[in-house]
Amino acid sequence: MGKLVVITGVPGVGKSTVVQYALEGTKEKYELTNFGDYMFDAAKEFGLVEHRDEMRMKMPLETYKDIQQLAAEKLSAKSKETNIILDTHCSVLKPQGYYPGLPHHVLKKLPLNLLVVVESSEEGITARRRKDEDIRKRDDPIIEQQHLNRMYAATCSVLTGVPLFIFKNEQGKAKEAGDTLRMVLEGI
Ligand code: AP5
Repeated sequence: MGKLVVITGVPGVGKSTVVQYALEGTKEKYELTNFGDYMFDAAKEFGLVEHRDEMRMKMPLETYKDIQQLAAEKLSAKSKETNIILDTHCSVLKPQGYYPGLPHHVLKKLPLNLLVVVESSEEGITARRRKDEDIRKRDDPIIEQQHLNRMYAATCSVLTGVPLFIFKNEQGKAKEAGDTLRMVLEGI
């Protein structure tokens, strides 16, 4: 059984960037895996969407849940063979309201070792989203969702008995944030 670390944060907070820095020089090897990629592959296979950012706004909730479940099953199988850092979300803003990225039916499938929340300032996240706006559509409310994500993450920690680590990816300091995450990874 590999180790499974879940990393979450509002869209554009810099999860992927920080993990890439953290994985430079870790003693143990981890594979950075994106939950959204697994969902997008499944959604494309069924002809449901053409772009990844359409999933949360266009897919009906029941279909969205089914695709989420399929992704969790595939990731569960993969986590048996390799150490994974899973880039995902505590909450996803759908037209109906916030929907949990790690609801109980998903959590049950994922043998977690650590839950991580990355946060940053509203100004920093807005600037990062702007940088990628040609290729990504990320417009969720930052402060409200960061606040809510702490509550969702704390709930996941209680349900699974897994520690929760919360840290900042300050503007222009992604490498330093990566160093912090690396130290935590080496302690599990
Ligand atoms: P996903 O693909 O995970 O979207 P995302 O949140 O936008 O994540 P990214 O990985 O693209 O962004 P990031 O926060 O890692 O930022 P990055 O490192 O690129 O999810 C897509 C969709 O999948 C979701 O909408 C949802 O529908 C679905 N999904 C996923 N998980 C789900 C689940 N569990 N349940 C249901 N649905 C799910 O950085 C952004 C930019 O900032 C870059 O340009 C970078 O260079 C820059 N940057 C980073 N750090 C810094 C810094 N410190 N200072 C300055 N610039 C910085």
